[in-house]
Amino acid sequence: MAEITTHTAEQTEAIGAGIAVLLVAGDIVLLRGDLGAGKTTLVRGAARALGVEGPITSPTFTIANAYIGRIPVAHLDTWRLSDPDDEEIGLALEAIGEDGVAFVEWPDSIAAGLPEPRVSVDIEHGGGDSRLLRMTGRDPGTDRSLGELVDNLRA
Ligand SMILES: Nc1ncnc2c1ncn2[C@@H]1O[C@H](COP(=O)(O)OP(=O)(O)O)[C@@H](O)[C@H]1O
Ligand SMILES: [Mg+2]
Repeated sequence: MAEITTHTAEQTEAIGAGIAVLLVAGDIVLLRGDLGAGKTTLVRGAARALGVEGPITSPTFTIANAYIGRIPVAHLDTWRLSDPDDEEIGLALEAIGEDGVAFVEWPDSIAAGLPEPRVSVDIEHGGGDSRLLRMTGRDPGTDRSLGELVDNLRA
């Protein structure tokens, strides 16, 4: 587990960019935290780092946004799916695909049906613009990389 407090949206985007470079096709990143915590902001930084151009906005009303960067990038927000039926879960899984990377906000309603995430991020509001980010990797190598990422950002 790696922890860092960010004080601007740009710093949270930079964390997203740092996570992005760890990812390979098929990887999933789960993001938890209250509304306005900065989940979409982190995904924006990650998508940019993966070569996505143009606006990267919340998919709250569409379940999933699909982008093409260096690899396909799916951005899901299942907040609307508090109690998804099989069809909705199927659509979400289809949107995640297997040939790209996927970022899933509010994943808990579908998490049971997902492959194990490469990285899980929890974001907590501090006061003002500060946010506490906790990141857990699937394996020791990922955890080590996340540790290096926060060390570099703090330095
Ligand atoms: N340190 C920070 N990290 C992330 N976002 C921040 C930070 N400070 C302020 N913000 C602002 O908080 C809001 C976060 O919104 P968003 O990323 O859409 O949250 P979520 O997807 O978790 O609902 C944005 O308006 C962003 O500019
Ligand atoms: Mg969001």
